[in-house]
Amino acid sequence: MSLQFSEMIEKASTSLLIKDPDEKVKSVYSLKSNWKRETGKTEIQLKFIDVIVPGRPDFLNIVHKKDLPRRGIGTAIGHAAFVHALTHIEFEAINLALDIIYRFTEMPLNFYTDWIQLCGEECSHFEMLRSHLQTLGYSYGDFPVHDDLWDLSQLSKHSLLERLALIPRMAEARGLDVTASMQSRLLECGHTVTSEKLQTIYEEEIGHVQTGSKWFLYLCGGSQEIACKEYISILNKYGFTEFRKPLNRTARLKAGFSEQELAYLESCSS
Ligand SMILES: [Fe+2]
Ligand SMILES: [Fe+2]
Repeated sequence: MSLQFSEMIEKASTSLLIKDPDEKVKSVYSLKSNWKRETGKTEIQLKFIDVIVPGRPDFLNIVHKKDLPRRGIGTAIGHAAFVHALTHIEFEAINLALDIIYRFTEMPLNFYTDWIQLCGEECSHFEMLRSHLQTLGYSYGDFPVHDDLWDLSQLSKHSLLERLALIPRMAEARGLDVTASMQSRLLECGHTVTSEKLQTIYEEEIGHVQTGSKWFLYLCGGSQEIACKEYISILNKYGFTEFRKPLNRTARLKAGFSEQELAYLESCSS
C-alpha cells in the first residue's frame, strides 16, 4: 500500500499522538515503508489539529530540568540515569520529527521523505538505548525526565524556518559538539558499550542536522548569506546568545553550517 500525501500527513499526526512507545515506533516504521516519494501531492482535506501535548507514556514523570537529581556517571545509578536521559531525548526526537511532518504541509515532497527517514532513525536510536538501559537493569520511565525539547518545538510551531533553526540547527547541533567529551568521560568510567552507542547515534545525527540545514537554506532561497542572517536573528529573537565551546567545527561544516555561522557562534560568549 502506498500512502497519498494527505494520508501520510494524517498518519504522522496520529503517530504523534500514540502514547505507547512500541506502538509509536511501529506506526513510524509503517509510515516509512508505505511512503513513496513519487506519490503525488494532493490538496489536504484534513482538519488541522494543533497538537500541544504529544503522545507519551503515562508512566513518565516529567519534571522541570532544575528538579532533576544531578548524578555523576561514575556510579551505576548515575550511568543508568544518563542512558535514560538519552533514551528520552530520542523518544522526544521521534515526536519532534512527526510534528514537523504533519504541521508544515507546504513543502516539496522530498522534505517529507527526508523527515520520515530521519524519524525512522530516531526510532532506532530510541530502541537501541532503551534495550541498553534494560541491560543495565532499568526500564524507560524509571527516572524523571524533562520536557525542554518539546517546549522548544512549541516556541517555533508557527514557523518552519524557526523550527529548523532551533531544533536541528541548535539543539541537535549541540549534541554533535558534546558527544566526544561525553565519550571520553564514559570511557574513563569503563562504559565502553554506552560510548559505542553514542558513536552510532552521532554519525546519524550529523545527517539530521544536515537535513535541517538543507531545508533551512531552501527556505532562504539557497542564499548562504540570507541563511546566516536569518539564523542569527532567530537565535537572538529567542534570547539564545550563549553557546558552549568548543564547537565541533568538522561535524557542523559537514552538517551544512557555513563558516560565517560558525564564526558568529564562536563570537558569542560561553
Ligand atoms: Fe537521535
Ligand atoms: Fe536526530
